[in-house]
Amino acid sequence: MPPPKVSGLHRRSLEPIDTPSRLLLGPGPSNAHPTVLEALSRTPIGHLDPLYVELMGEVQELLRYAWQTDNRLTIPMSGTGSAAMEATLANTIEPGDTVLVAIKGYFGLRLADMAGRYRANVVTIEKPWGEAFSLAELEEAITAHKPTILAMVHAETSTGVCQPMDGIGDLCRQHDCLLLLDTVTSLGGVPLFLDAWKVDLAYSCSQKGLSCPPGLGPFTMGPRAEAKMMGREGKVPNWYLDVTLLNQYWGSDRVYHHTAPVNMNFGMREALRLLAEEGLEAAWARHRGNAERLWSGLEALGLELHVPEPLRLPTLTTVRIPEGVDGKAFSLHLLNKHGIEVGGGLGALAGKVWRIGLMGYNSQPNNVDRLLNLFETELPAFGNGAPTTAAA
Ligand SMILES: Cc1ncc(COP(=O)(O)O)c(C=O)c1O
Repeated sequence: MPPPKVSGLHRRSLEPIDTPSRLLLGPGPSNAHPTVLEALSRTPIGHLDPLYVELMGEVQELLRYAWQTDNRLTIPMSGTGSAAMEATLANTIEPGDTVLVAIKGYFGLRLADMAGRYRANVVTIEKPWGEAFSLAELEEAITAHKPTILAMVHAETSTGVCQPMDGIGDLCRQHDCLLLLDTVTSLGGVPLFLDAWKVDLAYSCSQKGLSCPPGLGPFTMGPRAEAKMMGREGKVPNWYLDVTLLNQYWGSDRVYHHTAPVNMNFGMREALRLLAEEGLEAAWARHRGNAERLWSGLEALGLELHVPEPLRLPTLTTVRIPEGVDGKAFSLHLLNKHGIEVGGGLGALAGKVWRIGLMGYNSQPNNVDRLLNLFETELPAFGNGAPTTAAA
């Protein structure tokens, strides 16, 4: 046998990992809590070890608390938020089902794309990026299209809008339609009452309001969605995300499905424990308080926020880039000179806004003050100086 080839290996790849310490104030991931990082670095145990099985139950119980749901089928999908998003659709859509997607930003578009891949008859309604749907608009679309599922994003990370949920669950029940909600940027940071809101399917991520790194996608399915899944004709067309199989591992049977990312679940358990220790109401109030501190500070500097106050998300703020300012150069400066990440605009808002995240562990007044100070002292060097806002 010839010796293994090493010619393709760069010298840098052979050096130990050396990542900088960053303050992640963008759309996610957010920084992980130090005790979550400790939990992640524990020695793995077997994914069928009785102690791990106990931990799985604790993660499920804590997730139910975080979401305010009693759903039996509440599990962290192995994968990021998009895996959990796909799981909600893959398990419930049968070819030809009408899925109504209410799109008001980038992640609504992703829901529509995914639903189409499962051969749904996808119908969309759209709002400009920065607005939310009214109940009347949703009712009109549900009446017209009679969907099996209404899918929408609660906290639109691309725009910073929080969708008001009053009455939507009742509307869906009246029309015998499942309500599917993306809570990726709300879980842990924004009030969420899945059962009271009559949400049938929801998903989230580990890397934002939960103060954990990316890698798990919390998923939950209520009894109406479960009935739809159990009544389907063929198999769920996605083996990895098939909840009928996954439930044999997460439910009482503990049958092997795939090797669980045990350390990610250690981290998730610690992240959820921290949230429960703080208490949901206190965590929501903290996110709100720090967001308000950011909003008033930015406005005091003459900057304009993209979303009207009543619809603003406490976890993600979109700030209009003033006319004449090179927004990208400023965010690169924050990253390279100060180690702070702030996001740029996506899709329809590309080049128009910065996206500032205050999520989970990072929602702290000292982070807000540090960032405001940099906007005040260093932004003027990146344009005309005067923060006159560009038309959106
Ligand atoms: C609202 C929303 N939905 C879905 C996703 C997809 O999650 P992930 O990137 O973890 O796959 C994101 C990611 O930021 C998001 O913000």
